[in-house]
Order: sequence, then structure tokens, then C-alpha cells
Amino acid sequence: MTQEEFRNKTRRELMLGLSAVGIAALTGCDGARSWREGSEGRGAAPPIDTGLLDTSWGDSGIEEVSDCELTRNFAEGPFYQDGAPARVDLRTAGELGTDLRMTLVVRSERGCRLVGDAQVDLWHVMQTGLYDLDGKDMHYRCNLQTGFDGQVEITTLRPISYYTETGKLMPSHFHLKVSADGHDTVTTQLRFANDPDDDGEVPDSLLLETTTGSDGVQQTTYVVTLAAR
Ligand SMILES: [Fe+2]
Repeated sequence: MTQEEFRNKTRRELMLGLSAVGIAALTGCDGARSWREGSEGRGAAPPIDTGLLDTSWGDSGIEEVSDCELTRNFAEGPFYQDGAPARVDLRTAGELGTDLRMTLVVRSERGCRLVGDAQVDLWHVMQTGLYDLDGKDMHYRCNLQTGFDGQVEITTLRPISYYTETGKLMPSHFHLKVSADGHDTVTTQLRFANDPDDDGEVPDSLLLETTTGSDGVQQTTYVVTLAAR
């Protein structure tokens, strides 16, 4: 099963599963959205006991995902910074670029279950092709916690390709670090399929496919699978 096929399968099952167990009703309206809306929304969310959510959904008739290929690690690079804010919109005033909406789904190899309370650190270059390293505003960096649905969703500007100090062309990419209790941390990069600047360094499983939403915004979904300890 390809990454894209899995993404579609997981999203379909997620939507069906949420409907089956009535999580939206538990959270008042849109459970996933309220959980993701920063610290205000998180306060109202129901607690997660174990950090692991069962996606088999009892007798709902939905098959548990059986193909959960571990996400590969790839070079962290030199620009990671601890302490990024819990922001879901990374765009900054005055910077122009291509809007991109990204959903990251975190699951465990243990039963391919969705993982709540996973920490998702993401960082990428500004539209200047530089990383924000001043440690103050931490532009284009975020640290988010997955909700009940094992997801975080961000909106940002699609990273541009840039040249390193040694003259190497780096294709557009995200850096990602995902950790959760009882699992090995994954540190990796996500690049874009069909990017003319891509140099083939990362395996196909780390390539993002994009589509265009009904609002005209580019969107992508990626599933991160963590190795259980
Ligand atoms: Fe980078």
C-alpha cells in the first residue's frame, strides 16, 4: 500500500470512526477542531487515559489498519530549536507565499492505533530561504500536541527551496520531530512529490502529495508511524 493510499484509507476510517463513536458529541461540536485550537480549546477537551486510541472502533465493522510502515528517520539538520510555541497558523504578517494546510496524523505500530498526546515539533525555512534562529519569535516553528484523533493541523506558507552555505540546493522540505510515551522519537524530513528541485535523497515514503481544497488552498496529509518500545 502506498503512502497516498494509506493516507486516504486512514482519513476515511478516521471520519467513519469519529462518527461511529460520537466523539463530536462528547466535545460539544467539532471535537478535533476545538482540541487543536491552542491552549484555550485544549482546556475543554476530555482527558486521554493512555495516549493510545483504538481505531478498531469496537463493533463498528471498520477493519483495523494492518499496514503500518514505520516512518523513516532522516537528517535533523542544524536548525532545530527547542521551545517552539503551540501555534497552528505559522504564517507571519508581511511574508508572501503559497498557503499550505497540513494535517499530521500520528499512530503507533502497536495495532496501528492513533496516538493522542504525541508531541509534534515542526520547523521550516522562511520565504527568504533562511531559518529563524533568533530564538524570540520562532517564525515557522511550532510544537503541538495531538488530540483525540491523533492529529494536528497547521496552516503555513509552503517552504521554498534554498541554497546552503556550501552551495547545495535543498528542495522544499519540512523538518519534523514526533515523540510519544512508550515510543521511539522520529526525527525526519518531509519533501514534496514531483518537486523539480528534489534530489531523490529521501525515500518516497517521506514525500508529500498535495491537493487543492475547495477554498483553493493547497493541502496535504501525512501519517507518522512511531515504533513502540
Ligand atoms: Fe532544512
